[in-house]
Amino acid sequence: MRMYDIIAKKRDKNILTKEEIGFFVKGYTCGEIPDYQAAALLMAIYLNGMNDEEILFLTDEMARSGDVVDLSGIDGLTVDKHSTGGVGDKTTLIVIPTVAALGCKAAKMSGRGLGHTGGTVDKLESIPGFRAEISQKELIDIVNRIGACMVGQSGNLAPADKKLYALRDVTAAVESIPLIASSIMSKKLASGSDCIVLDVKVGSGAFMKDISKAKKLAECMVNIAANAGKKAAAILTDMDRPLGYSVGNSLEVCEAVGVLKGHEKGDLYEVSAELSTHILMLESGKDHDECRRLVDEAVSDGRAFEKLKEIVSAQGGDPSFLEDTEKFKKANFSSQIRAERSGYITHIDSEKVGTSSVVLGAGREKKSDTIDHSAGIIFRRTSGDRVEKGEVIAELFSNDKEKINEARGIFLSALEIGDERPEQLPLIFGVVCR
Ligand code: URA
Repeated sequence: MRMYDIIAKKRDKNILTKEEIGFFVKGYTCGEIPDYQAAALLMAIYLNGMNDEEILFLTDEMARSGDVVDLSGIDGLTVDKHSTGGVGDKTTLIVIPTVAALGCKAAKMSGRGLGHTGGTVDKLESIPGFRAEISQKELIDIVNRIGACMVGQSGNLAPADKKLYALRDVTAAVESIPLIASSIMSKKLASGSDCIVLDVKVGSGAFMKDISKAKKLAECMVNIAANAGKKAAAILTDMDRPLGYSVGNSLEVCEAVGVLKGHEKGDLYEVSAELSTHILMLESGKDHDECRRLVDEAVSDGRAFEKLKEIVSAQGGDPSFLEDTEKFKKANFSSQIRAERSGYITHIDSEKVGTSSVVLGAGREKKSDTIDHSAGIIFRRTSGDRVEKGEVIAELFSNDKEKINEARGIFLSALEIGDERPEQLPLIFGVVCR
């Protein structure tokens, strides 16, 4: 078999066999196939697509390219959630303790920030002492004891995806349904959970900018999960504006704590509560309304917040920072963004907001960059709000004074103010399940 022939076959819009896909994934992972040939095939897939069967073969091959986590030591069904990537998306910090407080078992493996999007592990590491690198034995032990554990992905989970993602990232081949679906689901299948809820983001801050594409991606991922014998559902949620009012690691932990303490009941709560509801539906077989009632109760009576503190303590973190979020170290410098004119905020480009927060130090421009946990953005006003000239719309925080100016420019280019109140898009566009 020759890589040249596989590239030509996909270039000519033909269907690849299981053997050809296996040859490519194995060969590229072990370094026998060079980047230029892999990049050519990825671009051919990007342009010509794959059918359902090819996507299943690709996902399966990538999932088995490294460690496959064995969660059989956990009593009961295990649950997992995954977001396709967003700005200000701190739902995991709310969803996992909520479903664990309701008896679900969650061995949550999360990534770090990628491009303009944040990562749960970076957020959790803003809590002093928190350990995200945990052995599989300890993970299973913690989940059996308290119901949940939130860890970084094992270095050898789906290594084929790691290499392919990095290559797609620099060859303009990210926004492809077969490639995104296989990338995400290979990691989910290798992480070993029985029930998976996918939060598929739609809008300017998401990889899928329109609803019909997001729906196709959701159907594709649910299909992969079902084929692998997993229960799965996907919720399509808005990422045309950042979720909640903060972007940046400790800032987002503080906001999530506010939700779990019942202080905030906005968009962030709604998305988190629906994700939790669907996890509970898959795990328990109960209907939507019953699960939503249980979720609302677990948050309003404080059980979900207590569970977050338990998880953080079990992983070495100091829960007093969650009791009193004023203890988080503040950034040394801040700068207010004021409205340049009166009107309505008609649009906030989430991707630019994410990029602005990366410049402030909240994310990584290069893999080797260290995160400034206190850097980020707090919104005082959001999409659809009326603002008067000079009113504060947001505050930027950083420990690097010089970066603030650069971040301000990017942030300002993300904002649109107009005369008409914009139509408010729904927060949740629909659910895909099988
Ligand atoms: N997240 C992933 O893990 N992979 C993609 O391709 C896109 C988002």
